[in-house]
Amino acid sequence: METVVLIVGAGPAGLATSVCLNQHSIPNVILEKEDIYASLWKKRAYDRLKLHLAKNFCQLPYMPHGPDVPTFMSKDLFIKYLDAYVTHFDINPRYNRTVKFSTFEVSNDKWRVEAENNVTGETEVYWSDFLVVATGENGDGNIPARHVLTKEEVYVGMSLLKYCSVTMVDALVMMMASTRLFMYGDLSKYGLFRPKQGPFATKLFTGKAPVIDVGTIKKILEGEIQVINGGIRSIQGKTLTFENGLKQDFDAIVFATGYKSSVCNWLKNYEYMMKEDGFPKKPMPKHWKGEKNLYCAGFSRKGIAGAAQDAMYVAEDIRSILATTKY
Ligand SMILES: Cc1cc2nc3c(=O)[nH]c(=O)nc-3n(C[C@H](O)[C@H](O)[C@H](O)COP(=O)(O)OP(=O)(O)OC[C@H]3O[C@@H](n4cnc5c(N)ncnc54)[C@H](O)[C@@H]3O)c2cc1C
Ligand SMILES: *[C@@H]1O[C@H](CO)[C@@H](O)[C@H](O)[C@H]1NC(C)=O
Ligand SMILES: *[C@@H]1O[C@H](CO)[C@@H](O)[C@H](O)[C@H]1NC(C)=O
Repeated sequence: METVVLIVGAGPAGLATSVCLNQHSIPNVILEKEDIYASLWKKRAYDRLKLHLAKNFCQLPYMPHGPDVPTFMSKDLFIKYLDAYVTHFDINPRYNRTVKFSTFEVSNDKWRVEAENNVTGETEVYWSDFLVVATGENGDGNIPARHVLTKEEVYVGMSLLKYCSVTMVDALVMMMASTRLFMYGDLSKYGLFRPKQGPFATKLFTGKAPVIDVGTIKKILEGEIQVINGGIRSIQGKTLTFENGLKQDFDAIVFATGYKSSVCNWLKNYEYMMKEDGFPKKPMPKHWKGEKNLYCAGFSRKGIAGAAQDAMYVAEDIRSILATTKY
């Protein structure tokens, strides 16, 4: 199938982009992996969720919230708003299509996008002049690899950084940590895996600090903190069932693992726009535009207002290109 603009993802960002393109009468198709739009809100959000930003920061282009809507909306009200948005602007995403692969074909200057139709099991091929990435900042659940250092090891490393390269400091600090950890034995059975990049390089290049061990590892080894390694199969009330069959009740359950962007898994030419972490290379305010007619909406870390803004800029940019070129 061929279209002018292909949008991947039918969350608020993808829906808004489609609406803005329609305002300029630019043909577009949305591919969505779930069987519904706004799947994050409809399928993955907890019941008592309330928007943490005021309503005027949580609206999409061409449809402001009415005066009767409370300042801080409930999840259900926001979903009602999205339902009204989709109905009013008559947006029809192609559901059950997981985009698995996209590349820019130099031979015909078009994007080639492969989507798996999870109902028929077939792989569908789409061609477009423009590709808009709208798969969200929170595409994949994240289980981070962790560096665990003591504050003394960090101190040694920081002092040495004045005299040695980051690579050398990392090698030394990791050796020190290994010697200490060696006495503890293999920590991977507690779900603690060591990342490939050294702790100081990680800090330098990504800003992420290592976990400072102030005694947690010791408590884990002594059994005071119990780590149940492995996935959670189901949660019912306060009862957790683990993959290994274990069942246990808890007073409180805290999810603290975070999310990550999933763009680099399916966008093979991500380097036209994204860094390896699946976020835009360019700083604001031009983060939404890549090379080769590649765009993104919803990656400004500014919530729904940011997604709405991106959608308007992207549609306007595509309009101006179409107005002045061969297409
Ligand atoms: C719990 C929570 C609360 C939030 N509260 C607020 C708030 O109060 N105010 C605010 O402004 N922002 C809030 N945000 C942040 C942000 O606005 C929302 O996450 C918003 O849904 C982002 O919209 P999006 O369209 O960019 O991404 P998403 O809503 O994540 O939509 C992406 C869509 O792409 C689909 N998709 C992903 N990969 C593929 C693929 N390979 N092929 C096809 N489809 C794919 C997904 O199924 C999904 O439907 C919140 C976020 C979370 C997680
Ligand atoms: C297809 O996707 C829908 C929506 O996510 C899901 O409910 C269904 O189980 C999937 N079907 C198959 C065959 O994978
Ligand atoms: C998507 O998949 C779901 C679950 O498999 C199915 O009920 C629904 O009809 C499908 N929707 C489309 C548009 O194919």
